[in-house]
Amino acid sequence: MENKKFPKMAFVLLSFLYLLPFSGAVVPNAIGISYGRLGDNLPSPARSIELLQSMNVGRVKLYDADHEILNLLSGKNIDVAITVANDEISGIAANQHLADQWVYEHVLAHYPKTRIRFVLVGHEVFSSLSTDQDMQIARDLVPAIRRIKNTLKAQGIRNIKVGTPLAMDMMGMTFPPSNGSFKPEIREFMVPLLKFINGTKSYFFVDVYPYFAWFEGQVMNQTGISLDFALLRSGNETYTDPQTGLVYTNLLDQMLDSVVYAMAKLGYDDVMLAISETGWPHEGESGATRENAAEYNNNLIRKMVTVPNAGTPARPGEVIPTYIFSLYDEDQKYGPATERHWGLLNPDGSPVYLVNITRKGTSD
Ligand SMILES: *[C@@H]1O[C@H](CO)[C@@H](O)[C@H](O)[C@H]1NC(C)=O
Ligand SMILES: *[C@@H]1O[C@H](CO)[C@@H](O)[C@H](O)[C@H]1NC(C)=O
Ligand SMILES: *[C@@H]1O[C@H](CO)[C@@H](O)[C@H](O)[C@H]1NC(C)=O
Ligand SMILES: *[C@@H]1O[C@H](CO)[C@@H](O)[C@H](O)[C@H]1NC(C)=O
Ligand SMILES: *[C@@H]1O[C@H](CO)[C@@H](O)[C@H](O)[C@H]1NC(C)=O
Repeated sequence: MENKKFPKMAFVLLSFLYLLPFSGAVVPNAIGISYGRLGDNLPSPARSIELLQSMNVGRVKLYDADHEILNLLSGKNIDVAITVANDEISGIAANQHLADQWVYEHVLAHYPKTRIRFVLVGHEVFSSLSTDQDMQIARDLVPAIRRIKNTLKAQGIRNIKVGTPLAMDMMGMTFPPSNGSFKPEIREFMVPLLKFINGTKSYFFVDVYPYFAWFEGQVMNQTGISLDFALLRSGNETYTDPQTGLVYTNLLDQMLDSVVYAMAKLGYDDVMLAISETGWPHEGESGATRENAAEYNNNLIRKMVTVPNAGTPARPGEVIPTYIFSLYDEDQKYGPATERHWGLLNPDGSPVYLVNITRKGTSD
């Protein structure tokens, strides 16, 4: 009896030890692409969906909830994120009927044949707070998110998570990562948002661009961030956070963990992260070359599809849903030339450079 009991206990202990550090680690990740359409020369939606399929993309993010595209995605093995426009937020926040109507029109009309998995409410809402209207939208964001979630819940839909993508300009401090904190002026919006995300087990969606952090360093003549570190080149370069002792091998992990620590400062220790946008421009200003863009995106893909999942130093093993920005170069975007050159594909659908999205992963 004794020696029968022992192996059983050992097994239980072993599986416990195995599961703890890797919880979620065996779930493979699937790479996503953001399908922005601010171009007057882009392939048709039908052709675009074919291209996404031929690239083995597991997820796609739309900046709207276009009926034609959602129809085309019906029956496809691609998880879909759709977006509520910023100017719809205040109406929905004020009125459950408008939330219901939005969900009926854009979700129920297509779900479940179209695998809608995320409803993103707004786009970088805290990034411009200069007018009264901007402030109103920021205040209305979480109420609108709650109303959309209420409708989904009332329809018995449990596998669609609701969130909002935010840009890194929400951060007051990002370095060292353990010093990460949100800007004081948006903390009042952040607390209810985190409460919702934590309570519904949704994701904190971040648009995170090592390119811009590196580029700013160049412009300011600060050479602290090397191109290797920004491009996720696995080299000999590391940074050890003096407070946590965690060792960083790339800038993306540092930026993500600064968000992890900022959330923890507000009391939210284990809200999951998703990367709603990341990428590297292939033409334009300093550092924007095809070689760099290819290297960043391929290194990113390799990192994200690894099993067990890499996560980040503060979140080892965590699956981080990730969308590369962007499917196409978009010629109608404003700003410096760099803005119009984030595409993986040329307007004729040919690749700008080679990315290898091997679909080892499955999306959720
Ligand atoms: C981290 O933040 C604290 C408090 O704001 C500050 O005193 C400290 O100097 C920061 N650490 C670094 C390395 O910047
Ligand atoms: C976050 O959610 C968990 C349950 O999933 C709960 O135990 C915890 O108290 C929540 N955190 C906060 C700060 O509310
Ligand atoms: C960076 O260096 C260049 C060349 O030395 C100089 O022209 C520029 O003014 C510097 N920029 C800043 C922000 O110091
Ligand atoms: C890291 O590698 C680079 C280029 O391969 C080399 O120039 C540098 O000296 C190395 N640094 C260390 C600390 O080994
Ligand atoms: C793509 O990546 C997979 C797995 O990482 C590898 O087996 C394959 O050879 C790569 N294909 C190309 C064309 O690089």
